[in-house]
Amino acid sequence: MRHYLQFSDLSASEYAYLFERAALIKRKFKAYEKHQPLVDRTLAMIFEKASTRTRVSFEAGMYQLGGSVVHLTTGDSQLGRSEPIEDSARVISRMVDLVMIRTYGQDKIVRFAEYSRVPVINGLTNEFHPCQILADIFTYIEHRGSIQGKTVAWVGDGNNMANTWLQAAELLGFTVHVSTPTGYEVDQAVAGIARGESFKVFDDPMQACADADLVTTDVWTSMGFETENEARKKAFAEWCVDADMMRVAKPDALFMHCLPAHRGEEVQADVIDGPQSVVWDEAENRLHVQKALMEFLLLGRLA
Ligand code: CP
Ligand code: NVA
Repeated sequence: MRHYLQFSDLSASEYAYLFERAALIKRKFKAYEKHQPLVDRTLAMIFEKASTRTRVSFEAGMYQLGGSVVHLTTGDSQLGRSEPIEDSARVISRMVDLVMIRTYGQDKIVRFAEYSRVPVINGLTNEFHPCQILADIFTYIEHRGSIQGKTVAWVGDGNNMANTWLQAAELLGFTVHVSTPTGYEVDQAVAGIARGESFKVFDDPMQACADADLVTTDVWTSMGFETENEARKKAFAEWCVDADMMRVAKPDALFMHCLPAHRGEEVQADVIDGPQSVVWDEAENRLHVQKALMEFLLLGRLA
């Protein structure tokens, strides 16, 4: 049994398979062709934080694969009333075939997986957001081909998205130029990566963007850090992706943002709504890559 708790849980060759499979699943979806390998399978989705894209893509995706979904939140289950995570994992995993969790600390999802009889997928933790980077790299490949050897500029917080980009770069052979304000750096120990060729740090976000193939950012304040909002607004003022940053990147550079976005904070409207932005493809592709992922975790490689 395999879990998907962080990006490094799959190998480069498994990612190559998943990207091919997601492309096939997407083509069938666009042609209204049924693809239902998961008939009679059930996905439990546990949300301890808000979500639009993750909820809709997993729920719609599982139904499209022929399966069904149970949706739980902290507020409407015993999870919010201190039932031990180990007990919840034992019980829920006896009734469903697959579990997706969005929560706070990575330790929680690791503990859940330890006691689960079925595969567990990380739908975002404070540390990682692997399903999003799966969609982002698939989107890059659709638009520009292989990401190997390319440069991704990360402008902003050293958060769950940044950590996951770094894991992906190490595994798939590309470089991430990271620029964060002081005090919000990526913690390599948390990201679980070595300081190799795949990771370079820049004080100035303009330098991080120079010659990049992809420029990407995220909210200044992630979920769970709301009390830091005012301090972050001050610290991050210079880490706003604008037309000048896109101008120093490669002429055909793409812009990505996992969304939700705050125009005028981490990105200017003319960038996210401009011609280099692929954010809507990026959001849609959550559906297709996660369908490929759920199929892989339950049925292994097909074809
Ligand atoms: N990008 C992303 O995970 O969005 P949601 O928080 O809406 O799920
Ligand atoms: N870094 C953001 C991503 C939201 C999809 C957060 O954790 O809130």
